[in-house]
Amino acid sequence: MKIAIVGTGYVGLVSGACFAEMGVDVTCVDIDKEKIEGLKQGVIPIYEPGLKSLVMRNYEAERLHFETDLVSIINQMDIIFIAVGTPSDSDGNADLSYVDNVVETIANNMTAPLLVVTKSTVPVGTSFRVRDKIRKRLDERGLTNLDFDVASNPEFLKEGAAINDFMSPDRVVVGVESDVAKDLMSRLYRPFLLNNFRIIFMDILSAEMTKYASNAMLATRISFMNDIANLSEIVGADVNMVRKGMGSDTRIGRSFLYPGCGYGGSCFPKDIRAIIKIGEEAGYEMKVIKAVEEVNNIQKSILFKKFDQHYDGDIKGKTVAVWGLSFKPETDDMRDAPSLTLIDSLLKSGVNVRSYDPAAMQEAQKYLDDKIYYAKDIYDAAFEADALIVPTEWKEFRLPGWAVLKKIMKDNLVIDGRNIYNKEEIESHGFEYRGIGLK
Ligand SMILES: NC(=O)c1ccc[n+]([C@@H]2O[C@H](COP(=O)([O-])OP(=O)(O)OC[C@H]3O[C@@H](n4cnc5c(N)ncnc54)[C@H](O)[C@@H]3O)[C@@H](O)[C@H]2O)c1
Repeated sequence: MKIAIVGTGYVGLVSGACFAEMGVDVTCVDIDKEKIEGLKQGVIPIYEPGLKSLVMRNYEAERLHFETDLVSIINQMDIIFIAVGTPSDSDGNADLSYVDNVVETIANNMTAPLLVVTKSTVPVGTSFRVRDKIRKRLDERGLTNLDFDVASNPEFLKEGAAINDFMSPDRVVVGVESDVAKDLMSRLYRPFLLNNFRIIFMDILSAEMTKYASNAMLATRISFMNDIANLSEIVGADVNMVRKGMGSDTRIGRSFLYPGCGYGGSCFPKDIRAIIKIGEEAGYEMKVIKAVEEVNNIQKSILFKKFDQHYDGDIKGKTVAVWGLSFKPETDDMRDAPSLTLIDSLLKSGVNVRSYDPAAMQEAQKYLDDKIYYAKDIYDAAFEADALIVPTEWKEFRLPGWAVLKKIMKDNLVIDGRNIYNKEEIESHGFEYRGIGLK
């Protein structure tokens, strides 16, 4: 089977490499020439554990190819996946211009039977619009009898664990409207699900909705716990205990119950905005999800608030060490990262920022330029800092040398945005500790 994946970003590159690993002939296409040239030289444009060796192995075995010109390969493919970005536009809708571009190229150039699959997260109804556009263009080109199908195959991988998620998915959701599409997608995914076939076939609209509903549910759990954490702090409860107590109920479960400094990343914020808009357009108000976004916007400023309150607003000229810049550990993705909200407020208040991140320093410079100091390690970041703030819970931050930090820091405040430290232990080293939702 020959497939092309258009859009070689977090989703396209991981999916392409994983399909190739199963023996599929995959061409990853991107309009970014530098990215494609780099990939051919073994330069992986993103940080994702295990990705480099997977890409190199399959590229060398000639199962994985890189291309900038979609037109030249369209008619050799059985399936073309669309995996381009769908960022928010200025109104919060998913911007479909990248998807439309790809669809236009396909519609203008296909001359052989094809299955076009949307893997990008797209508003409900988009795959039908893709189908109608291509069909109209084929009719105009006199190719009325040319067989083509569309399918929706939303992606659920988590950055930082993307390869494992793709190789051993909890489930694969596929929306189809024909047996041909169903058969092709079954054949493609069977190797990933040999001992437990977890493909859930459904209609296309439901598949598109499933992606938004899943992300909205996960974001809801985060905002819900942040609300509970903030209230716990006020009434004197310990949210860590509350989380354990409630998570042990099998109806609730333990995952995604961690309070923190808000969700970020390339998916939750924009998908939450998009589902609110989808609701508006359909004449239905998504009340719960609107509250999820509101709570998150407040939560993203909580670290700054704790810092400001500690010094009674007298923060101008102080220095803060920020450990962790990416929106979560094990990725260099800075899109909508809570660290950016924190750093923005600090800089606006005249605070100096010394930051360190194990993977996202280069990416962070695209957002923050030379407005902050980029340290070589956690101690360099903490040097002569008044406070240490941790927005991202990288493993290497979990057990630092507190005695060393006490010596090199000017003041002794630690604000733990992910509740990774033990308050008593840190206080025993002479620090003042603030977590999220703790006594
Ligand atoms: N990042 C994630 O963890 C994740 C998880 C699940 C779903 N998704 C969804 O998958 C989609 C892609 O996300 P991403 O994070 O991989 O995006 P990304 O921004 O990392 O990559 C998108 C790529 O598409 C390329 N591109 C744009 N227009 C193109 C065109 N006309 N032809 C070829 N290439 C083109 C860009 O150059 C870029 O390399 C989005 O809809 C996103 O919501 C992302």
